[in-house]
Amino acid sequence: MIGLFKKWGKQTTEGTELSRDELLKGKIPKHVAVIMDGNGRWAKSRGMPRMAGHHAGMKAVKRVTMAADGLGVEALTMYAFSTENWKRPQDEVDFLMKLPQEFLAIELDELVEKNVRVRMTGIKDGLPSHTVYAVEEAMERTKHNTGLILNFALNYGSRNEMITAMKEMMEDVQSGKIRLEDIEEETFGRYLKTSGLPDPDLLIRTSGELRLSNFMLWQMAYTELFFSPLYWPDFGERHFHEAIHEYQRRSRRYGGL
Ligand code: FPP
Repeated sequence: MIGLFKKWGKQTTEGTELSRDELLKGKIPKHVAVIMDGNGRWAKSRGMPRMAGHHAGMKAVKRVTMAADGLGVEALTMYAFSTENWKRPQDEVDFLMKLPQEFLAIELDELVEKNVRVRMTGIKDGLPSHTVYAVEEAMERTKHNTGLILNFALNYGSRNEMITAMKEMMEDVQSGKIRLEDIEEETFGRYLKTSGLPDPDLLIRTSGELRLSNFMLWQMAYTELFFSPLYWPDFGERHFHEAIHEYQRRSRRYGGL
């Protein structure tokens, strides 16, 4: 896989040094979405338990949040737990559910100070109360912040999101709140859990897997895709910069010429 990436002239495991100032001369994506993949393999390759990989992944969340903030990215959505991740062993699910709490216990003060606004996209029902409490507290404490939106996709699945949105929209049609003939793409977007956020300009997925895994399928119709061979816990600022550099070289035509 790494060979394949090298052949494409894209990211290598070493990353490419690119200064923040150089990147700031180009277009910065407003919204970056990240599929943080490879925690388990990172741990396995070191003879460590999978949880150690998730814990190291939490530290990468901090690095990438700071890198995104440093470039003036408006929103960063991190896929932290999908609706499919419940199928994992209970001890792993329990561990993953404690990570937002641990992350916010360590980082919230700095996020507040750095003007970061915490947000969540996903289904709160079904999440343990300690997870919801930690995220809601962070949302409350950062609600007046105007800088980077750090959006955790937690208990999130795109198909579920679209079905729920569709039902709510149809209820509003039935009650006369909106008219069927007035429904446009933006109308539907307002019923999604990402309402108010711009569609992602760039998706980063680590670990060499090349798929979307039920992540923001509606919102990513025209998103640029960047796949890194690195496992998520190894991903850091310079790799994020490299992804942004690659984004800046893409020509976005949205189906036009
Ligand atoms: C996928 O890797 C990763 C996850 C399902 C969890 C991602 C969560 C984090 C990186 C930490 C989140 C931190 C906060 C603050 C919310 P995998 O376990 O499927 O890796 P593998 O494919 O190598 O087994």
